[in-house]
Amino acid sequence: MTIDEIIAGKNPEALPDGHFIDGRFRRASDARMMESYDPGRAEAFASFTNGTADDVDEAVDSARRAFSGVWRDVAPAERGRILFRAAALLREEGERFAVIESLDSGKPLSEARGDVRGAARAFEYYAGATDKLQGDSFPLARGYLGFSLHEPMGVSAQIIPWNFPISTAARSIAPALAAGCAVVAKPAEQTPFTALLLAELLSRAGLPNGVCNVVTGTGAATGAPLVAHPGIDQITFTGSVATGQSVMRSAADHVTRLVLELGGKSPVIVLADCDREAAITGVLGAIFENAGQICSAGSRLVIERSIHDDFVAELVKRAEAFRIGHGLRDPDFGPLNSKAHLQKVSGFVDAARKRGVTVLTGGETTCDPESGKGWFYKPTIIDDAAATDDLVREEIFGPVLTVQIAEDAAHALALANDCRYGLVAGVYTSNIANALKLARDIDAGQIFINEYFAGGIELPFGGNKLSGFGREKGIEGMLSYSKTKSIAIKL
Ligand code: NAI
Ligand code: MG
Repeated sequence: MTIDEIIAGKNPEALPDGHFIDGRFRRASDARMMESYDPGRAEAFASFTNGTADDVDEAVDSARRAFSGVWRDVAPAERGRILFRAAALLREEGERFAVIESLDSGKPLSEARGDVRGAARAFEYYAGATDKLQGDSFPLARGYLGFSLHEPMGVSAQIIPWNFPISTAARSIAPALAAGCAVVAKPAEQTPFTALLLAELLSRAGLPNGVCNVVTGTGAATGAPLVAHPGIDQITFTGSVATGQSVMRSAADHVTRLVLELGGKSPVIVLADCDREAAITGVLGAIFENAGQICSAGSRLVIERSIHDDFVAELVKRAEAFRIGHGLRDPDFGPLNSKAHLQKVSGFVDAARKRGVTVLTGGETTCDPESGKGWFYKPTIIDDAAATDDLVREEIFGPVLTVQIAEDAAHALALANDCRYGLVAGVYTSNIANALKLARDIDAGQIFINEYFAGGIELPFGGNKLSGFGREKGIEGMLSYSKTKSIAIKL
């Protein structure tokens, strides 16, 4: 089937419409179905199951059985071999995953391809780590020995958002499996398909039945019973602050450990001595990649006054030249993920316009020029925004960049830290000492110097303040799925 046929409305393949439980797709005969939309043309293209608490019970039971009956006894090196095979399969079948990811989420095909490669990379990284999570030994008095073990937590519940469906699923499923945990994942109701396909792929890679289960459905019907389930030992949640708080409250009932990744309002500091071209490209990518629907988007440009006018004029010129279109046509810039989200983003800007903010470009909805359809919002740049304005303070999660003007590096730091979030930050300067001072003093979980989004699965990722707690990626990400046991012996 060609991309044009898919854009015209043909379902790309028979997509699964049931949960993936105990190694196979299953749909209850009385299942309540929902539809997933293609944001590029604002039309439904495939249906899936809105799971119930009973479905969640089944998935958790399946994971519990697989954890204690099979998976925790599989040698770490063998776990690694299975994860390596999954990574290889994901690379082989990458195009199929990328097309479905682009169609379901709206993101440009090249970005979806990058996400799938990143997902495969996460499986490779943690495949190589399965047999390297070593314990420690401790200096006790003569006559004693003390050492520690890392044991798998058990069953991990993973709540996945719609902005990076396959990569968020991979970055939590891979380390959980590597650490010896079983998983029940719930993808977002806007983008359920690639997580289902990933679970099926893991099965073909040799993962025993029940070790990785996926239940689909809304947050209320499926997500809430999953995170409240007494059979869950650990929760990884990525999404909004409000939902994260409700997940945290629910986790408190069973004292379930959790990792919360709750988004941000990340600053990109651009100092006068930066490499101008690198900074312009970096700032545009930071806010307009995936149409700004990135928890770590660089949504606040903090720029030194002496270069502001020329720099911002160039940003506007390039943002206006973006090719906008359906994700599968691989444009520079795709749609927002849902109608509700489009309304949320435009509501933010409309309210700000009434307050008199300067909208340099964008600030309105648009559509796919080929079809006249879709949920698009133009790349938007707001100049000289006050630190107290809602546009600067709230996570918009869309293609809206606010510009704040700084007198010098110290002022830039103060503006950057004047924020309730602390996920990531970018710094552009050719003075490495200044860059490192800013990196030290910015309150965020990850700092990118001279290339926004630099790094990969090797680097711990996660937030401070309202952005959450716990770290994903890196070896630290795997430790989120293990618990330390220390053992003391009298000789
Ligand atoms: P959300 O936080 O409600 O949804 C994220 C995930 O949580 C979805 O899978 C959803 O089904 C699930 N969920 C919802 N309620 C739940 C509950 N009570 N228990 C368990 N799981 C539940 O976010 P939503 O409504 O999709 O987007 C709202 C805003 O959240 C966005 O505008 C954006 O600002 C932020 N967001 C941040 C993300 C990030 O990467 N940190 C990702 C998605 C959204
Ligand atoms: Mg969709």
